[in-house]
Amino acid sequence: MYRFRRLRRDERIRSLMQETRLHPKDFIYPIFVIEGQNCKNPVESMPGIFQYSIDRLDEILEQVQAADIGGIMLFGIPDHKDPEGSQAYAKDGVTQRAVRYIKQNYPQIYIVVDVCLCEYTSHGHCGMVCGEEILNDETLPYLVKMAVSLVEAGADMAAPSDMMDGRVAAIREGLDQAGFIQTPIMAYSAKFASAYYGPFRDAAQSAPGFGDRKSYQMDCANGQEALREIRADIEEGADIVMVKPALAYLDVLKEAAMTFDMPLAVYNVSGEYAMVKAAAAKGWIDERKIVLENLTAMKRAGARIIITYHALDAARWMAD
Ligand code: PBG
Ligand code: ZN
Repeated sequence: MYRFRRLRRDERIRSLMQETRLHPKDFIYPIFVIEGQNCKNPVESMPGIFQYSIDRLDEILEQVQAADIGGIMLFGIPDHKDPEGSQAYAKDGVTQRAVRYIKQNYPQIYIVVDVCLCEYTSHGHCGMVCGEEILNDETLPYLVKMAVSLVEAGADMAAPSDMMDGRVAAIREGLDQAGFIQTPIMAYSAKFASAYYGPFRDAAQSAPGFGDRKSYQMDCANGQEALREIRADIEEGADIVMVKPALAYLDVLKEAAMTFDMPLAVYNVSGEYAMVKAAAAKGWIDERKIVLENLTAMKRAGARIIITYHALDAARWMAD
């Protein structure tokens, strides 16, 4: 009989045997930025998450810095939305101003920007629209403009989440031409059309005004197609590839980890966060244990980077 239990006898040996260990630097913390002054609006479906105006960002940025979190992911929500999402690439757009503010006042914080038009378009889709169709190639120049404009403002990394074909190559070329050859791209490569994004669309006011996102985001039934999407993004020049959401797609993450010798990110999305928070508020689960177990599972499955709304709490729990 093999005695597995020899290596589980007490905390000291269990700790020595631990294969996967979380660190706050594994995490990227998403932050929602809105226009206006002195605003800190709670997102109802995401307890503990707020929309901040730029003048109120200090509070959260100081926590990110103190907790030694790996980076932040910025989502800007403009007051003015139009069919072309013009605030996404306006020099003085809310996201550009937020990036400049953070870069100037918190130069140590690594700033990732989500590159997608849905928070900026009046129709709420991630690309240009003609009738009911979401256009692909016509969208690419807008995404390029957005990425370049945010990197010019000081963003450290661009993360396209729109799921248009060819956007990684287009953004890579645009960044290179603008002189940003050293700015990495983290591609939302296998991004599924998921009901788990529900709470985010409240937070980012980005729900599509008609139809859904199924003509550009992936069918949750398709694991093989996910690998093809990831391969295409690698070939187009992505530096990091992502699987999103996390928990229901750990099989995809694991397979990607075994197939590609590339850094992988996973997005532990809003609906996953909301479910844990709701059950914890009811007293039905132990939030701290559940969160650390979930995050450990994501890292065990192959994620180098975990984008998570739990980042600050998890970092605190890991410290004590
Ligand atoms: C923008 C974007 C979305 C998320 C990240 N970037 C929403 C969507 O695709 O509808 C989801 C994040 C989350 O649910 O936490 N395209
Ligand atoms: Zn989008």
